[in-house]
Amino acid sequence: MAYKILVLKGDGIGPEVIGEALQVLKIVARQSAIDLEFHEALVGGHAIDTHGKPLPEEVLKQGQESDAVLLGAVGGPKWDNTKGGPRPEQALLGLRAGLGLFANVRPVRTLRELIPSSPLRPEIINGVDFIVLRELTGGIYFGKPSERRESSSGREAVDTCLYSEAEIRRIVKFGFELARDRRKHLTSVDKANILSTSRLWREVAMEVAADYKEVTLEHQLVDSMAMHLIRRPRDFDVIVTENLFGDILTDEASVLAGSMGMLPSASLGEEMNGAGFRIGMYEPIHGTAPDIAGRDEANPLAAILSAAMLLEHSLGMRSEAESIVKAVEGVLHEGYRTKDIQGSVAGAKLVGCKAMGRLVRERLESQESDS
Ligand code: IPM
Ligand code: MG
Repeated sequence: MAYKILVLKGDGIGPEVIGEALQVLKIVARQSAIDLEFHEALVGGHAIDTHGKPLPEEVLKQGQESDAVLLGAVGGPKWDNTKGGPRPEQALLGLRAGLGLFANVRPVRTLRELIPSSPLRPEIINGVDFIVLRELTGGIYFGKPSERRESSSGREAVDTCLYSEAEIRRIVKFGFELARDRRKHLTSVDKANILSTSRLWREVAMEVAADYKEVTLEHQLVDSMAMHLIRRPRDFDVIVTENLFGDILTDEASVLAGSMGMLPSASLGEEMNGAGFRIGMYEPIHGTAPDIAGRDEANPLAAILSAAMLLEHSLGMRSEAESIVKAVEGVLHEGYRTKDIQGSVAGAKLVGCKAMGRLVRERLESQESDS
């Protein structure tokens, strides 16, 4: 069986971290005798420089013809403030919309080894384990009109937040399904005291709940949720929310895991032929980190964990995904740390991006010979 994987390394530290993740995937392919075909293409700032646009049509088409997309990150100071010109981030939105990736899964776990890397107290974050499920193709990111214009009193700008019942239903349903296989607790986050879209969201969430009696549904307003997330993060299991709220809350949640450099994500579309496999795009949530790009300092673990999510969600290889997670935990347990997760622990062994990737691969290979 051959699987096609489109590799979009992107800008900044994207190429470094995806390079390590790719090598991990190659080992898994060899160990499990599957055929992974990698195709590379340019997106984001590099694509603007080379093709004049952040997401050339051919690249989107290649994505549509692939089993999965592995993406680094896009953007950087070089392409900022282009008034009206192309922006690297448009590549992300184009891929999300063009591939129908409505469900963004962002798992947040605090590994025991990384507790000292978080600015939060151990008794608050010890044992944190939840998933933020962010709606990814609707809301204010995509609503029209979205523009700047002249009015009689000067410049003005407008963005539109629109959600259809169907868009809300499919993401909330996804949330219930995730929760059903976990600790059976779903928190739906909205701003129903102010926004019409949120009131519809809440209404639809309650309707969907009728089909999932074994799961408890709670509603939280996004402002108080921002507080609960850092005061009592262990109380959450699956959190489902709209596009903009999910964007904001997941950056906040990354602090619980010690570093943004630890958080992977999967953006998934509809299930294919009811077979449980979904087209997906997998990326670390950390962004391009231009300040450390090219210096072999980036943490490749979020990219490597994203590759694990790719195996699980798009290729149905759950145990292989688990082996990668185990290898990552093993390396951290041995005390190896990239700069971002160095914390204040005595005895931490500081390594760069390449060395961290190599350590994970060595661990994967020795796990295989143990089993
Ligand atoms: C994210 C990022 C993106 C978003 C940006 C880079 C467009 O912040 O994936 O969370 O806002 O969705
Ligand atoms: Mg974000």
